[in-house]
Amino acid sequence: MDWGLKNRLSKIISPKDNRGVMLAVDHGYFLGPTDGLQTPRTTIRPLLPYADSLMLTRGVLRTSVNPDVNIPIVLRVSGGTSIVGEDLSNESLVTSVEEAIRLNASCLALSIFVGSKHEHKTLVNLSKLVDLGEKYGIPILTVTAVGKEMNRDSRYLGLACRIAAEIGAHIVKTYYCQNFEEVVEGCPVPVIIAGGKKLPRELEALQLAYNALRDGAAGVDMGRNIWQSDWPIAMIKAVQAIVHKNADAKEAYGIFLEEEENDKSSHKERQKVVRTTVNHSVPFD
Ligand code: R5P
Repeated sequence: MDWGLKNRLSKIISPKDNRGVMLAVDHGYFLGPTDGLQTPRTTIRPLLPYADSLMLTRGVLRTSVNPDVNIPIVLRVSGGTSIVGEDLSNESLVTSVEEAIRLNASCLALSIFVGSKHEHKTLVNLSKLVDLGEKYGIPILTVTAVGKEMNRDSRYLGLACRIAAEIGAHIVKTYYCQNFEEVVEGCPVPVIIAGGKKLPRELEALQLAYNALRDGAAGVDMGRNIWQSDWPIAMIKAVQAIVHKNADAKEAYGIFLEEEENDKSSHKERQKVVRTTVNHSVPFD
């Protein structure tokens, strides 16, 4: 592995503990203005200090993230489908490597759809992107997307992760499942997990993250379970404690509750200030 590629990879998965917290905010590329991410800038800004890297598209990067931030960018470069279209698996490469270099990306992300109608196309997309990544020293994160008809079990996810690694992916993202350790064992590159749909309670999402790390994941690429929570900062801090401080789910939930309280009281303070200001400026009150 070349120096540049190693250097970029070390910004995503820390060599200190071989782990990483990636904040995923790329959902709009096929979902549009989804819940919690309607105004990307507002969602992203307060969470940046607690993430090791940020996964998003070039459009949201340019419009919604200040260029002076110091966070490694994982640029989603596959797309071309939508939630209302015919087939989500029909993705192409939609952002060039030159553009990624202009944007100072530390990693490039694309989805593969193993077992889908467009399996071949997405795997060829991956192989082309790996060639470019190797040429320019940029690691490739492969997102193992799951078709509606696929089971999220260790057999299928293990298959998709292994194929991604065989084609040359440097990191693979998948979902947590039973016997997850078999998925990790069969994949010779770091595996990180997506959070998936928002779970009803924060503790459940923290348990999922903890189980994945315990079973060999190198970190998380989490979105909805962070920014669809009523307390996203508390949530990302709790996730960070699991990934980097070896907290278990209960300890992390304790951190979540503490941070939630802090957020609530600072929210009340903010409201007080606003009310005072309003009172001063409304003479007839
Ligand atoms: C799909 O839209 C993306 O690859 C997401 O980045 C990924 O699924 C992780 O986000 P979440 O934790 O919301 O599943």
